[in-house]
Amino acid sequence: MNAQSQNTALFESTMLLPDPDAQERLSRLVGLDDQKTRLSKMLGTLINSAGLEAWASRYHPGSEAYVSGILKRPPLIVLCGDVGSGKTALAETIGDMVARQEDIEITLLPMSLSARGQGRVGEMTQLVSAAFEYAYQEASKLVGPSGRARGGVILLIDEADALAQSRESSQMHHEDKAGVNAFIRGIDRLSNGGLPIAVIMCTNRLSALDPAVKRRAAEILVFERPEAKQRHLVLSDSLTPFGLSASDIEILVNVTGSTKDRSHGFAFSDLTQRLIPSIILDAYPNSKVTASRAIQIATETMPTPPFQEKV
Ligand SMILES: Nc1ncnc2c1ncn2[C@@H]1O[C@H](COP(=O)(O)OP(=O)(O)O)[C@@H](O)[C@H]1O
Ligand SMILES: [Mg+2]
Repeated sequence: MNAQSQNTALFESTMLLPDPDAQERLSRLVGLDDQKTRLSKMLGTLINSAGLEAWASRYHPGSEAYVSGILKRPPLIVLCGDVGSGKTALAETIGDMVARQEDIEITLLPMSLSARGQGRVGEMTQLVSAAFEYAYQEASKLVGPSGRARGGVILLIDEADALAQSRESSQMHHEDKAGVNAFIRGIDRLSNGGLPIAVIMCTNRLSALDPAVKRRAAEILVFERPEAKQRHLVLSDSLTPFGLSASDIEILVNVTGSTKDRSHGFAFSDLTQRLIPSIILDAYPNSKVTASRAIQIATETMPTPPFQEKV
C-alpha cells in the first residue's frame, strides 16, 4: 500500500491546523478553559520543544537540564470521563490553538478504535501498530537540519475503551491485551524519538485504565458533566437568541441538573444535541419558541445515564 491509501484506511480525516472551522468549534466548547489551557501548553511543549527551551534560557538561565527532563516525558495525554463531555470535540480542535500559539502547522491524525477495531482477531493490534508507525514517519519528516521542528503531529486515538482496559483484568481477551501492548510499544518508541509529536488518547473508563498506560501519561485530564454554571452558559448561549429570558434560562438550568429522581444531570451532549434541537424543532414551522414549552420539553427529556465503569 502506498502512504496515501494507508493513511485513508487508518484515519478518519486527517486535518491540517490552524483551521478556521476547528477554531470556531473549539471556541464553542464552554466550561473547559482549564482543560484547554493545560492541554495546549502540554501539547505545545511536546510538539515544539524549542519553545520551552527558549523560555528557560530567557527567564531561568541554568535551568536547561531540568527543563529537558520535562521534555523527555512520554508524549501521551489521556482525556477521560463521562460520555458527551467534550473529549472528542476538544481533542479534535485543540491543535488549532497549539498551532497558532507555537506558530507551526500541525497535522491531526484521528483514529477511532470503536469504529475500526472490531473485526478479525488481531485487527486492533495491527491498526494501533500501523497508526503509530505512520505517525512516526510523518513526524520524522518534520525535523529540520537545525533540530527545530518545521511542524508537528497529533495522533488521536479516540474511543480507546478496549485499549484502556487493564491487562490485569482476568476477563480481558488475549487480543485486547495485545492491543494495549502495541499501544505501549508505540508510546515508548515515540518517547525515545525526540520527534514533534504528541498522542491524545480518549476513553470513558478512568478506573479501568491500564496502569502501564497511566504511568506513561504526561497528563490525565478528567471530564465531568456540566455543573449549573456551565449548563447556564450553554443554554443561555443557544436559547437567548430565541427570546428566552434570564429567569427562563435559570429554570432550565435547574430542570437539567440532578433531581430527586436521579442523581445525574444532563451531559453537555444532552444539552447541545438533544434538548436544544428538540426545543427549536418543536416550535418549527408554525410557532415561536416559548419558555413554557422549553421547560416542559426539558422536564420530559431523560439525560443519558452516566457511563458505567466496568472494573
Ligand atoms: N464543554 C462543552 N461545551 C459545549 N458543547 C459541548 C461541550 N462538551 C460537549 N459538547 C457537545 O457535545 C457533543 C459531543 O461531545 P463529544 O466531544 O463527542 O463528547 P465525548 O467525546 O466526551 O463523548 C459535542 O460535539 C458538542 O456539541
Ligand atoms: Mg468521544
